[in-house]
Amino acid sequence: MICANNIALAYGKQVLFKDVNIMFKPGNCYGLIGANGAGKSTFLKILAREIEPDTGDISVGPKERIAVLRQDHFAFDTHRVLLAQALFGNPDVLLLDEPTNNLDIHSIAWLEDFLYRFKNTVIVVSHDRHFMNQVCTHIADIDFGKIAVYAGNYDFWYQASQLHLNQKQADNKKITDRANELKTFIQRFSSNASKSRQATSRKKLLEKLTIEDMPVSSRNYPFIRFTPERPCGNIILEVEGVSKTIDGEIVLDNVSFTVNKNDKIAFMGSNSLAKTTLFQIIAGEMEPDKGSYRWGTTISHSYFPKEHQGYFNGNLNLIEWLLQFAPPKEGESFARTFLGRMLFSGEDALKTTDVLSGGEKVRCMLSRMMLARSNALILDEPTNHLDLESITALNNSLIHFPEVVLFTSHDHEFVNTLVNRVIELTPAGIIDRLMTFDAYVESAEVAKTRELMVKKAA
Ligand SMILES: Nc1ncnc2c1ncn2[C@@H]1O[C@H](COP(=O)(O)OP(=O)(O)OP(=O)(O)O)[C@@H](O)[C@H]1O
Ligand SMILES: [Mg+2]
Repeated sequence: MICANNIALAYGKQVLFKDVNIMFKPGNCYGLIGANGAGKSTFLKILAREIEPDTGDISVGPKERIAVLRQDHFAFDTHRVLLAQALFGNPDVLLLDEPTNNLDIHSIAWLEDFLYRFKNTVIVVSHDRHFMNQVCTHIADIDFGKIAVYAGNYDFWYQASQLHLNQKQADNKKITDRANELKTFIQRFSSNASKSRQATSRKKLLEKLTIEDMPVSSRNYPFIRFTPERPCGNIILEVEGVSKTIDGEIVLDNVSFTVNKNDKIAFMGSNSLAKTTLFQIIAGEMEPDKGSYRWGTTISHSYFPKEHQGYFNGNLNLIEWLLQFAPPKEGESFARTFLGRMLFSGEDALKTTDVLSGGEKVRCMLSRMMLARSNALILDEPTNHLDLESITALNNSLIHFPEVVLFTSHDHEFVNTLVNRVIELTPAGIIDRLMTFDAYVESAEVAKTRELMVKKAA
C-alpha cells in the first residue's frame, strides 16, 4: 500500500498538484493518465520519493519495497533488462512509466500477463489504450492539479468521464435557460410599479445562479502542419540491395524498393531494430554494409529519430532551442508564436529542455521537422510518447501532407488512416504491397507469403 497525503507541487505558475490525497491498495493496478506535461512522471517520482513535493508526504506500509521503471529513451534490449530488474523479487509497490514504449508485441503480451497475475500494488503510466484496458483495475486521471480515481479500465473511465461531462453540460444548460427567463422578466417589468418588487426579487435570484465554470479538460491540440518548400519531382528514393549486420545479427538483408510520388508507406515487422536501422541508413546517419540508396535531386528529407535525447543535452531554453532550426532572420517573437501553437505558451517558452516531459520533447522534435520544410518525411515511432490529442493533430497533418511520408508506428488507427502502401521487413527480405493497412493485415495472400519467408529464413 502506498499513500499520497496532501501533495502539492508547482513549477513557477504551473500548478501540477494541489491537495492530492490518494491511497493505492494492493491487488489493484492503477493506470495513471493525463495529457503530456500533466505531471504523470513527476507524480511517480514523488511516490518513489525522488522528488520532494512543496507540501505533503508519502507513506508506505512497514518494510514495503518499491520498484521503479522510469520513462526512458533506451534501446529495446536495455529497456527489457531494466524492466526485468524492476519486476524482480516481488516488490510490494511497482511504479512503471510507459513500460510498453520500447517493447515488441510479444514482450508487451508477456508484461500484460505478468501484471494481470501480480498480487501487489501497481501504478502504471501509459498512453497505450489497449494495454491499459488489459491491465488496469483503476484509472487515476490527472487534470487541473487533481487526481481523480475511477474503478474500472480505460474504456470504462472514458465512458464515465463522458457521462459526467454530458451531465454537467445539461445542468449548465438548465441554469442558463432559467437565467434567461429571469432576465426577460426583469427587463419587462422592472419599470412597472406593480411588478417591480417581483422584478427585484428575481434579480436577487439571478445573482445567485452561478454556472459552474466548466473547463472541459486541460487537454489541447497542438498546431502541427508540414509545408514543403517545393513539391517532389519524379524520382524520390531508390534503395538497392541494402544489407546491414549489427552485433553479429543480420538486421537488413538485401532490401530493395523504390518510393513513388505521394507514397505514404508504413514500415512493419516485428524487429524494430530493422526499421530503425533502415531509417538511419536512408537518413544518412549510418552506412550500409552492402547496397546503396539514392534520393532524387528535388528531394529534401527530414528525419524524426525514435531516440532523440541527444537533441536536448544543451542547457538551452525552448526559444533558443527552436531558433537553432529556424531561418536565420527569425528571432524571439517568431519562436514564441511557433512555440505557443505547439502548446508552450508564456512562461513555458523559457523552460530549459532538460525539464521537458517525454511528450513535450516529441512536440519539440516535430517543431524542428516542421521548420525544415522538407518534401519527404521519415518518422520512426513519432506517436510513442504523445497523448491522444497530439496523436490526432499529427495524424491529421500527415493525412493532409501532399508529399512523401515513410514511417513506423504502433498506433493502429494512426497507421490505417495514413498509408497507401505497406513494406514489411522480414528476416528473409521484404513484403511490399500497395494497399491500406487493414487490407494488409487481413490479406490471406500476405500471411501466406510471410509464412513462406519465415520458413525460408529458418
Ligand atoms: N524542474 C522543473 N522545472 C520546471 N518545470 C518542470 C520541471 N520538471 C518538470 N517540469 C514540467 O512539469 C510538467 C510535468 O512533467 P512530467 O514529466 O511529469 O509530465 P508527464 O505527465 O509525465 O508528461 P508525458 O506524457 O509527456 O510524459 C511538464 O510541463 C514539465 O515541463
Ligand atoms: Mg512522462
